[in-house]
Amino acid sequence: MTPAELALRRYAVQGLVNEAGRMALDYFGKQDSLGVTMKGAQDWLTVADGAVEDFLRQRLAVLFPSDAVIGEEGGGQASDAVWIIDPIDGTANFARGDRNWCISIGFLLNRVPTIGIVAAPALNEFYVAQRGEGVTLNGRPISVSGADDLKRAYVELGWSTRVPFEHYLAVLQRGQAAGCSMKRSGSGTLGLCHVANGRTDAYAELHINAWDVAAGIVIAGEAGASINDFFAGEGISKGNPILCSTPALAAQLREITGIS
Ligand code: IPD
Ligand code: CA
Repeated sequence: MTPAELALRRYAVQGLVNEAGRMALDYFGKQDSLGVTMKGAQDWLTVADGAVEDFLRQRLAVLFPSDAVIGEEGGGQASDAVWIIDPIDGTANFARGDRNWCISIGFLLNRVPTIGIVAAPALNEFYVAQRGEGVTLNGRPISVSGADDLKRAYVELGWSTRVPFEHYLAVLQRGQAAGCSMKRSGSGTLGLCHVANGRTDAYAELHINAWDVAAGIVIAGEAGASINDFFAGEGISKGNPILCSTPALAAQLREITGIS
């Protein structure tokens, strides 16, 4: 793919995500008609998830018909050029009126995370990154915090029912013992974005799906974060652990989380 073809994708999809953000924000403003259902234990779904994903799929099919698409709600198969969509990440927050949710779309070229676009419309935040070209938040460049001391570090640990809770508890205990302040905010995508802009120093989760991290990996990587090789093995189809941090904290956090 030529640099011009990549740039075209980045610019075009920024527009789509912006439009999708307005659509999601409309739903968010009507909490009574979100049609909340559960896909599983603590696995939330609203009508907005399906509507946003359908909108992005329809537009991508017109703009870039030869690209593949994988989405959290509609599935899909990988190819050399594939968009990975999370229509609403942080759906539990979204369904309960908490503003910490976003729309996330990443583009992988030959399995390499190459474009990442995330809109958090209820927070008025829009992240754009392209591998080798930098990253911006609302048009301004961002970078990781530069933290190098666990005793001052702010670490987000995401978790889900996909992994037994004892495993997370062990990581929490080791992190606390090392002096970290630990939190969970309910959006893995924004967890990576917050490492990128220095609001936190690390994000870890023992299993997460590709749509939760495809865009955030580009965003955090371009901001200078160290990130494990999430797309190794069957990462695209089955997910993997994620560890994203300032470079100086990476080795110690690998020990604490067991994620290499
Ligand atoms: C979830 C969120 C959560 C993370 C889970 C994800 P969803 O995605 O990103 O923070 O811990 O692993 O499944 O259900 O809000 O789209
Ligand atoms: Ca998600």
